[in-house]
Amino acid sequence: MASRFFARHDRACTEVVAGSFKTRRSIQTLLQSRHMYFPAGFILIYTLMETGIFQDKVALITGSSRGIGKAIARTLARAGADIVINYRRTGGSSEEQAKQLCTEIQGLGRRAWMVQADISQKESVRALMKEASEKAGRLDFLILNAARTPFKPIEKLLERDLRQLVDTNYLGNIFCIQEAVSLLEKTCGKIVFISSLGSRFYNVSYPLGSMKAAMESVVRDCAEGLKPKKIAVNAVCGGIVKTDSFKVLRQLWEELAYIPEELFVEPEEIADVVKFLCSADSRAICGQTIVVDHGFSNRLYQPMQTKKKEEKETGL
Ligand SMILES: NC(=O)c1ccc[n+]([C@@H]2O[C@H](COP(=O)([O-])OP(=O)(O)OC[C@H]3O[C@@H](n4cnc5c(N)ncnc54)[C@H](OP(=O)(O)O)[C@@H]3O)[C@@H](O)[C@H]2O)c1
Repeated sequence: MASRFFARHDRACTEVVAGSFKTRRSIQTLLQSRHMYFPAGFILIYTLMETGIFQDKVALITGSSRGIGKAIARTLARAGADIVINYRRTGGSSEEQAKQLCTEIQGLGRRAWMVQADISQKESVRALMKEASEKAGRLDFLILNAARTPFKPIEKLLERDLRQLVDTNYLGNIFCIQEAVSLLEKTCGKIVFISSLGSRFYNVSYPLGSMKAAMESVVRDCAEGLKPKKIAVNAVCGGIVKTDSFKVLRQLWEELAYIPEELFVEPEEIADVVKFLCSADSRAICGQTIVVDHGFSNRLYQPMQTKKKEEKETGL
């Protein structure tokens, strides 16, 4: 009875940690020894806590100085990955926050580097990947999180607004993939895009939505195109998250005030799904966009919002 329990327990442990051990075969041999159940189990659990499932893996997260990108960097670092933090603006709060995050991740015992680059510029992306590769030596996960948008209705967008939208949110991600492919194919790497519900629903003054729709199409294209190189490509489509961009959106989208608190998404909830897509558990998922929104997009008619709005209008 007891030996059946330990055999089951050890099999489960082996499955969980096998991917993160260089000396996988010797660990399995150790587990197969009937006299080593207790010490082997202890060593495994301790090692798993210390190293995490992504030990020796390297993740680069674009736009990770703040917001959702920062949460993704933290989550992957806690799971054992070394992190390349990318940010755009130099000399301000973005760089300062990137520095703090770098120190925080190094405090976890991981390696972390901050690299300034503007993903909308091909040369800048080339330099980013070169520096990341020189410093980290490899790349396993490319998380395409950076985004930038003017919050204006389409008819008021200036030409420079439109160019910024396309350059950052469409071309920028493709530049990153083009420059990272040679690194990712060496590691059977993963690419995870971060999309938003604007890809499928109208939001006031949110031209980024159409860029996200294009992004979700690129996810499918890249997933199939990069399959022969054994690079997995997927996306996470987040609901509404209270980051810096939310503060602007809230001023333009009156209805946000009526959305029940439980329908907002925490940055860490998006980060956890990114972690899943980077893990071996997602091996059968290819070219998909997973919606993470607490069911917000399931509702066409939202009585709670309507009721609160009526109450506000009638002063009741
Ligand atoms: N907030 C939401 O409700 C929500 C919901 C679903 C999905 N998303 C998506 O999640 C991602 C992150 O959103 P967030 O709300 O966390 O954004 P955020 O707080 O505005 O942060 C954006 C990050 O992207 C960086 N960035 C912008 N342009 C860049 C460029 N050209 N090159 C490199 N980095 C650049 C920024 O760096 P600097 O500070 O240096 O400019 C910053 O670190 C975006 O793709 C967004 O569309 C957001």
